[in-house]
Amino acid sequence: MEYHEHIALRAALEWQIEAGVIDALGEEPVDRYAVQLEARAAPKPEARVKAPAAPVEMPKVDPVVVAQQSAAQAGDLAALEQALSAFEHCELKMGARNLVFSDGSPDARVMIIGEAPGRDEDRQGKPFVGRAGQLLDKMLAAIGLNRAESVYITNVLPWRPPQNRDPKPDEIAMMRPFVQRHVELVAPELVVLMGNISCDAGLGRRGITRLRGHWTEAYGKPALPMFHPAYLLRQPQMKREAWADLLEIRARLG
Ligand code: URA
Repeated sequence: MEYHEHIALRAALEWQIEAGVIDALGEEPVDRYAVQLEARAAPKPEARVKAPAAPVEMPKVDPVVVAQQSAAQAGDLAALEQALSAFEHCELKMGARNLVFSDGSPDARVMIIGEAPGRDEDRQGKPFVGRAGQLLDKMLAAIGLNRAESVYITNVLPWRPPQNRDPKPDEIAMMRPFVQRHVELVAPELVVLMGNISCDAGLGRRGITRLRGHWTEAYGKPALPMFHPAYLLRQPQMKREAWADLLEIRARLG
């Protein structure tokens, strides 16, 4: 464009603005509605070349496999407790105050495996410290055992289930590798499976009324299923059977 043309065009534009022109119109009318509809219908240039993005696949983890790997790496009881506290796949952990790992002597010949912490255990971070635990202490004392020296106590679940509900099958399954490793590290002579949840985890079956009093094997050790002390508090007439089972343990220890 020549310099004088540029001056002339600019002067014309200024004159139009001065005269109140606010829109730039072309020679031909344009149907803007039709233009908009066409634009919507036409695929965007980049959509034509790019394939639709595939949904991002999050790698699925199996909590049981994670638990197996984590438990297998624990070389001692402190490491196992640490592995449990680092395990993020059990939702019970969210609602619990404390991890309840164990109590008693790791050198004990008898390892007692209970179900899960209740309110008192959750508060104190120790297994069997509530009413059921006090009864358990009395039962043990009746055959000359005590928690400080001659038994080691843990639970299938280290976290209290909300409102003491029964643990779910997947919760039991993901804790089982930790219990297995726990038994390997303590290496007791025998294990006592206290109640149905403990039988479920250790034997893969429930039915404590039929299972109790019969020696079996769990976690690679001789195992005796027994009534849970909480059940004995509700059904004191069953203490006869519990006494018979305690005598079985006494006899086995020699
Ligand atoms: N019942 C259990 O099975 N374990 C506990 O620690 C307390 C109550």
